[in-house]
Amino acid sequence: MAQDCKTTISASDTMRYNTSTIHVPETCDGFTVTLSHRGKLPKSVMGHNWILARKDDMQQVISDGLRAGPHNNYVKPADSRVIAATSVIGGGERTSVTLDISRLEQNQEYRFFCTYPGHYSLMQGTFIIAA
Ligand code: CO
Repeated sequence: MAQDCKTTISASDTMRYNTSTIHVPETCDGFTVTLSHRGKLPKSVMGHNWILARKDDMQQVISDGLRAGPHNNYVKPADSRVIAATSVIGGGERTSVTLDISRLEQNQEYRFFCTYPGHYSLMQGTFIIAA
């Protein structure tokens, strides 16, 4: 069912997503995540993105993203550990990314998180493939 193969996650002018878990039906081929920033602050002050990686890769993706800086949306270019990534957005903006479910393995743990500086400790959650 195409309708189940997408979700919207939102954030505002605080370091928080509105959910800590995203369930993806295993029947989906692709899955689209839309990030909606419902706040008012510009991305230079309160930017958010949505990044998906293996739990084991998360810390390295974040530290490399910090070094990559704002002009790379805080994601290292061509980082093979990044399964999906949106750009950084500010208040009133939205952005989407579609990921290929075939890249995910059943026995791995996946996390989604914001790589904007200082945000990941509060802005992260679990990405679960649900039967
Ligand atoms: Co953020």
